[in-house]
Amino acid sequence: MAYVQDTLKLDNGGSVFLGLSSTSIRVGDKLKVTPHFRGVAKEDFLCNYVWNLDGSWEKGDFDSTIERVGHTVPEYTWEFVPERPGRYRIAVDIEDSHGRFKGNVERWIIVAGKYGFLRPPVPPADAPTAVLADDVSMIFNIASEQFNSLKEYFIAAAKHELTFKEFRALDHISFEVKRGEAFGLVGTNGSGKSTMLKIIAGVLEPSAGKVNVHGTIAPLIELGAGFDMELTAKENIYLNGALLGYRKDFIDEHFQDIVDFAELDGFMDMPLKNYSSGMVARIAFAIATVTEPDILIVDETLSVGDFLFQQKCERRIKELVESDNVTVLLVSHDISLVERICDRVCWIEKGHMRMIGETDEVCEAYRSLDQD
Ligand SMILES: Nc1ncnc2c1ncn2[C@@H]1O[C@H](COP(=O)(O)OP(=O)(O)O)[C@@H](O)[C@H]1O
Ligand SMILES: [Mg+2]
Repeated sequence: MAYVQDTLKLDNGGSVFLGLSSTSIRVGDKLKVTPHFRGVAKEDFLCNYVWNLDGSWEKGDFDSTIERVGHTVPEYTWEFVPERPGRYRIAVDIEDSHGRFKGNVERWIIVAGKYGFLRPPVPPADAPTAVLADDVSMIFNIASEQFNSLKEYFIAAAKHELTFKEFRALDHISFEVKRGEAFGLVGTNGSGKSTMLKIIAGVLEPSAGKVNVHGTIAPLIELGAGFDMELTAKENIYLNGALLGYRKDFIDEHFQDIVDFAELDGFMDMPLKNYSSGMVARIAFAIATVTEPDILIVDETLSVGDFLFQQKCERRIKELVESDNVTVLLVSHDISLVERICDRVCWIEKGHMRMIGETDEVCEAYRSLDQD
């Protein structure tokens, strides 16, 4: 696959890994780029440091410096100080002492504006756990025959002639989300992302494996889940709030905030069945984020709203991420939203775990799926 490679294997068993002091910085911050040579003497190699904006050379936003590691570059480290926000590709070409090209190591970083949103840093391995998915599999039984009528179906059922096909929607999925992370799930349609989120939210029981969750969850999983279409919007706010564990006086106190955020003042006594799906999504999002949940789960919710409301939701999610208290699990078909918000990403493809790691590496690999 044609995706970025942070590690390069050298002849004679050595390797080089591209270390970055961070993968998310602000304009003017210093980023330390360090090639770590293992199993070989670093003095025997030449490094050509390269960066470019958005992976392109065309716009002239790039730099390239040939340095001998440990000789002209102090501490074997190169400092990168970006002047403009954007997504940068950092690469180091490796040559041996005879100038023969050995390959390169690359990583992506996101540079935010002076006061822009910073994705949370990738947490250390010993940070507290928010969600642990341990070898989770999900098998759905789907009827393998087609019936022309319910009557035919019940006759077959009574005769015990119904046959089912097993469909494995998730196959041995394991990952850990640390407290305060913004964790993304990507994968093509039908790959099991929503199924995974429903298992984490406790809506579905996995067929095998288990999930541990530490903290309260505000799930935004399926449009209208937790809503009663016959009730008014106001009644639904109380109903949905109760499902999220809010007390009545808490909802009383925050009712106007919810209505204001959803921008639905004047529509509160209308039954929900008269609402558009975008309006329902607004209410759901407003209720789930009126307070800081420990874990916010967002499954494609933002895609139903209009553009301005999507931006507002994105700002609110970023606020929650920046508070450091909230863990966010985000599924979106909008890969750039995942890149803007998440520090790590898990790629599930047709129920299988394809890749897990830092956002830019995984998203780059996922994008390149198209070209395979
Ligand atoms: N309740 C169910 N019964 C049978 N099959 C299901 C059920 N829910 C989901 N699936 C199937 O499981 C697969 C994964 O679905 P889903 O988790 O919704 O994927 P994604 O969210 O990645 O698009 C799909 O093929 C879907 O048809
Ligand atoms: Mg889905």
